[in-house]
Amino acid sequence: MKDLLKKLTIEEKLGQLTMIPPFFYIKDLKKEVFGALTDMKLSEEGVFQTGSVLGIQNHDEMNLVQSKYLEKSRHKIPLIFMGDVIHGTTTIMPTPLAQASSFNPSLVRKGAQASAKEALKKGLQVTFSPMSDLSRDPRWGRVVESYGEDPYLNYILSKETVKGYKSEGLLSCVKHFAAYGLSEAGQDYNTVDLSRLNLFEYYLEGYRGAIEAGADMVMTSFNTFEYVPATTNEYLLRDVLRKHLKFKGVTISDYDSLLQTIYHRTSSCDCDAAIKGIKAGLDIEMASSSYMRCLKEAANKDPEILKLIDEAVLRVLELKKKAKLFDDPYRSEHLLIDASHAKEAAYKLAKESIVLLKNESLPLNKKTKVSLLGKYATEKHVLGPWSWHGDPKDTDELAKHIKAEYMNDSESFFDYDLAKIKQTEHIILAIGELYHESGEAHSKADINLSSHYIELLENLSKLNIPITVVLYTGRPQVLTNALPYINNLLVHFHLGSMTSKVVSDTIYGINNPSGRLPMTFPRHQGQIPIYYNRLSTGRPYSETNPYVLKYLDVSNEPLFDFGYGLSYSKFTYKNLELSNSVATLNNLPTVKVTVTNESDVTGKTTILLYIKDEFASVARPVKELKQFKKISLKPHESKVVEFKLTKKDLSFYNQKLKKIVEPGEFTIFIENLEQKFTLK
Ligand code: BGC
Repeated sequence: MKDLLKKLTIEEKLGQLTMIPPFFYIKDLKKEVFGALTDMKLSEEGVFQTGSVLGIQNHDEMNLVQSKYLEKSRHKIPLIFMGDVIHGTTTIMPTPLAQASSFNPSLVRKGAQASAKEALKKGLQVTFSPMSDLSRDPRWGRVVESYGEDPYLNYILSKETVKGYKSEGLLSCVKHFAAYGLSEAGQDYNTVDLSRLNLFEYYLEGYRGAIEAGADMVMTSFNTFEYVPATTNEYLLRDVLRKHLKFKGVTISDYDSLLQTIYHRTSSCDCDAAIKGIKAGLDIEMASSSYMRCLKEAANKDPEILKLIDEAVLRVLELKKKAKLFDDPYRSEHLLIDASHAKEAAYKLAKESIVLLKNESLPLNKKTKVSLLGKYATEKHVLGPWSWHGDPKDTDELAKHIKAEYMNDSESFFDYDLAKIKQTEHIILAIGELYHESGEAHSKADINLSSHYIELLENLSKLNIPITVVLYTGRPQVLTNALPYINNLLVHFHLGSMTSKVVSDTIYGINNPSGRLPMTFPRHQGQIPIYYNRLSTGRPYSETNPYVLKYLDVSNEPLFDFGYGLSYSKFTYKNLELSNSVATLNNLPTVKVTVTNESDVTGKTTILLYIKDEFASVARPVKELKQFKKISLKPHESKVVEFKLTKKDLSFYNQKLKKIVEPGEFTIFIENLEQKFTLK
């Protein structure tokens, strides 16, 4: 690639660092972008010098653009096509937040694998996924694209997602670097302010997982870090990303985020932004062309800039080589995919992504006379945000599905006729947020379940018929006022193509739910941000002392904690044992716990192992998830589950940003059990 680089003019080099949407090459293509389209300020010649394409409809379109481009290209360097395969392209997997509820890394990897095949077939070579932004604020619309509030879960699932893409040859771009999930007040595109220690200890973990698994690209975020926009932030892009995380691949801005530094008022004009970008370590500029327009002159004046441009272009050429584009720029044409394989992966993942939060009478029996009510009884748009080109054929309405599989027509009702409802024995209410109430630019100040639904629940509860609510949502919602009227509560964060099948299979017990919440559900929105791994305070809550951490009007406790989730099986946890109660780093304890399924139904459960460092030189969380295992147990079966503690489980960053382990006492928690050990 170095020889090729030498042949390029400065204009051709800068073109390689520019990404534009496909309809700039062929004017009558459908326009499909997720951002305000600005004037790219490029001549026809400039357009055919750019190096990468944002989004593509299908492989025919990709071939069309690629062939027209290559006809005009002096060195025949193919375009590389990138797009947002967030949870599938044709077959839609559960959203990332839903996937996180499965606590099943292997199914998450298989989902990514299946999505990768479909994406490659569509003509994409890179996906802008995973979104590894730690998310603790449910008002933020993009929590649905994330793996939730826990750094370890985020680390593991980001890693598995990248592995899944990689195994099929789809390149991946982890985003948004860095700490975009901390946008103030949950507002998209807002300011972020956090300490370096917080960044290293919690917010980097997701990106770290993706990079360790071999993510090929990193996308910068819209926010500032230490008052400098991430896209032009040299500390983030060089010190943290390249030196600390040892990232070797290509960086890319988010949509127009380089020019947005003018709005941040840290760049005086587009040429100032371009110079700041290349100096900070930004390789590709997405959806604007300041590199192409400004950096030639800058490079003439400053050889250091030319050197940085060459380094960036070389990385882009290597990326294209990795995508095998030099071997075959049209390779999607020859790929074969098996649609049933993706559907199976989506179904397995969705089955484990639904969460049971309250249960008095599920599963239902086929003979039960049911009223199926609510917007989602007949809604076809169930795929969730970023569902790309999901196939409507795969998304039967819930009513149609339940009717076909589980109901006797003459006994069941699908409208709000109270007289008819009274004749039934159970009400299923399928309600929640619409798919476009979460996602990018879809933050909310009010995350209470709509008062309209609470009134409806109150009225229905007067009929004295048990009520099952199936909540479709892209974020944790406040359910406090609704909960007293609900007998059974199933929640999911949009399950994709298999939604209706999985919801009905779960209501009727074909699927035994095993999901757990990847984000805390507040009892009041004034509690936000609320997350389980908070720090201890100097004034912990106490009933007797008024001057402690508390609200006057709401308890400190969430409505549903991170990790909460029920099953139709009844699991008990006993005999939490440590191999040794005094340990050294060379002899860390093995943790054992006996898990028993006390019920008559086979089920899966996730054993969550939390650690508390009892005393340290910096304040440590009240508890932190360090390992987990998901197991299946037959009726009345017991299993001893083992965890080997590692140095990583006990280490943390100190004020000098050095990762250390300090001797002392540690507590291990599994469910309601705990045990202590001392590290010498
Ligand atoms: C989003 C990114 C996305 C990009 C390209 C931006 O608006 O923030 O997550 O990858 O658009 O579609």
